[in-house]
Amino acid sequence: MKVIFENVTKKFGNFTAVDNLNVKFKDGEFVALLGPSGCGKTTTLLMIAGIYKPSSGKIMFDDKVMNDVLPKNRNIGMCFQSYALYPHMTVFENIAFPLKLKKMSKDEIKKRVMQAANKVEIGHLLDRKPGQLSGGQQQRVSLARALVKEPQIMLLDEPLSNLDARLRINMRAEIKKLQKDLGINMVLVTHDQTEALTMADRIAIMNNGKLQDFDIPEELYENPKNLFIANFIGNPPMNFIDVELVEEEGKYFVKNEVIKLELPESSRERFDFSSCSKQLVLGIRPEDLTITESKCNTLQAEIYVVEPLGRDKLVNVVIGERKYKIIAPPKFNADTGDKVNISLNFAKIHLFDKTSEGSIRRNRV
Ligand SMILES: Nc1ncnc2c1ncn2[C@@H]1O[C@H](COP(=O)(O)OP(=O)(O)O)[C@@H](O)[C@H]1O
Ligand SMILES: [Mg+2]
Repeated sequence: MKVIFENVTKKFGNFTAVDNLNVKFKDGEFVALLGPSGCGKTTTLLMIAGIYKPSSGKIMFDDKVMNDVLPKNRNIGMCFQSYALYPHMTVFENIAFPLKLKKMSKDEIKKRVMQAANKVEIGHLLDRKPGQLSGGQQQRVSLARALVKEPQIMLLDEPLSNLDARLRINMRAEIKKLQKDLGINMVLVTHDQTEALTMADRIAIMNNGKLQDFDIPEELYENPKNLFIANFIGNPPMNFIDVELVEEEGKYFVKNEVIKLELPESSRERFDFSSCSKQLVLGIRPEDLTITESKCNTLQAEIYVVEPLGRDKLVNVVIGERKYKIIAPPKFNADTGDKVNISLNFAKIHLFDKTSEGSIRRNRV
């Protein structure tokens, strides 16, 4: 089922929580709504559910306008951060609850509950009460209760936030696998960029009620359209340096009081230098910086502190007054106060207009 937002705005009094949203989810797609707290993710989800009605614009499922369709007529499964299980009911009774409301026969209910429970691998826990389950098991019960109605679309609002780190990583994969197996639409609300990147087919990234971009994870990571996306996606986050673009003898340089770097010829293909502003922000991810012997076209830095991460080392350096992060191999050996040179992978640099905050790279294909 396609889910289509056409010029959808949601206001609470004078406050605009979702601002003119235009986006189309494909049939069977796993979409993440990503952004900082308060950016309008839950409001968007509740409009899909029919719990909120858009102030203006249209929401469509395939070609049917849904604005006036009640939640109970939408064939939707929902699962929230607080699993909202009934503590006095067993797991079986919790999962069966939505079907009882539909006055389904006892045999049919039993069959459906077993099927849903088996899909999330809790078939052996049906007699327990929620209080006798771990967080991850409660999460699965909540998923099973959403699935048991055989919804066309599943809406998940921060479903993993209450789980400990290890379980969260496991459940990420489990929910993704479940979505692939069932082939139903899934919409996941999260403020956690790793969750969005790892789970979703496409990510709608929002800020202040406005959609920033809607694209596949790789594209948002490799080619962020603006500073907000560049800053929000990636862990550890992208490094940013305020620079001025200068042209000297046919070559382009970026510089400030402490650095001057020559941009390679090839960067003209990626960026439009002719019409852009001269005040830019250069962005580079920690994995695209390398500590090197060379003093040629490199940054001179002092090591602030080194954090071993096992697989690699996170090296924090200071250039001028500002701190930057670099991913170095585990064998990297240096310590606080050491002077190092840092080379950039120029094929991976990002340049943003300092005023508009938009990327100055040429149009994406
Ligand atoms: N029922 C409501 N009444 C008034 N303001 C609301 C209501 N629901 C949400 N908001 C406001 O709308 C903004 C977006 O909220 P929400 O969609 O819950 O954000 P998110 O889920 O991204 O954290 C917030 O500033 C929030 O305070
Ligand atoms: Mg929310």
